[in-house]
Amino acid sequence: MAHIYGGPWSEVKLDAVEYYLQCFTNALTKARMEIWYIDAFAGSGDRDAEREVGGIFENRPLETITETLDGSARRALKIDPPYKHFIFIEMDEERSTELSKIKGEYRERNIQIRRGDANAEIKDIICHSPWTLQGESRHRGVVFLDPYSLQVDWETLRAIAKTKSLDVWYLFPIRDVTRQLSHKRSGIGPKEAKLDRVLGPGWRDLYSLPLPAPVAQTDIFGALQSAEEKEELRRVEKWQQIEAWFKQRLEGEFAYVSDPLPILVKQNRQAFSLFLAVGNPKKAAIDLAKQFATHVNRKFAPRPASRHKSGR
Ligand SMILES: C[S@@+](CC[C@H](N)C(=O)[O-])C[C@H]1O[C@@H](n2cnc3c(N)ncnc32)[C@H](O)[C@@H]1O
Repeated sequence: MAHIYGGPWSEVKLDAVEYYLQCFTNALTKARMEIWYIDAFAGSGDRDAEREVGGIFENRPLETITETLDGSARRALKIDPPYKHFIFIEMDEERSTELSKIKGEYRERNIQIRRGDANAEIKDIICHSPWTLQGESRHRGVVFLDPYSLQVDWETLRAIAKTKSLDVWYLFPIRDVTRQLSHKRSGIGPKEAKLDRVLGPGWRDLYSLPLPAPVAQTDIFGALQSAEEKEELRRVEKWQQIEAWFKQRLEGEFAYVSDPLPILVKQNRQAFSLFLAVGNPKKAAIDLAKQFATHVNRKFAPRPASRHKSGR
């Protein structure tokens, strides 16, 4: 069964997380830790992607081909030295059946497949040992939260932070969050409940933050900006304010939070902010995570031209 989603940006996201998973196992296997990988939106394990090939440079007609690429679960299983335990969570029945087939291919690995809602499953996982020991065990892990949109509850992030032994990569859906927040607090209406669930009740503070500084009238070359350009600048500044606010919220729960990696989708528009948040408060763990995350952000950041286009 094909699982078609995303685009070239999905590879950037998966490359970034895979790079971290590799660094994590290199460091923690050496330190004789028992390591876990929890993929909370695991999909089918594969990703079917469409790509255009041919054209004048290849001297053949242009055509669209579909290719099957490794999704997050398969990528994690291929990492060496291997993780000791894998948990794949997926709500969709057919995709979770595909995951069971992958489990069959890796009989030597300890793989648990849970069909259900990621928030409920994570809560169930971490209310048991070793995660209740708050870092006082040899168990450490990485959780990957890769939703399509607004499916991760704020309370799930808080619960992960409390374990003090799990790192989390969260694909924060900044575009969809921004769409839910209207210009005026009074315009939110029935969306309040969803915002409470995804951001916690603190999102109301966003309406008392100072507005971004007045937008410049001229660009860096002194030319007058059009009304459209000014509107775009204001939109981006508001957006950056929400991203910075969310980072601060995470910092209130986790010992360390990386700068977000912008994930740009069609027409170089940012749709997601990929954050790493680390629960373990020990200095050695934070230093290591910082080092890896800085490298991830440098290696996978969009090139300046594309950032400019997106207005960032
Ligand atoms: C973006 S895809 C994940 C892709 C996957 N990480 C990969 O690299 O192939 C999101 C997946 O989450 C699943 N999903 C959506 N809502 C969910 C929920 N509340 N709990 C668990 N899975 C969910 C969807 O069925 C879909 O397979």
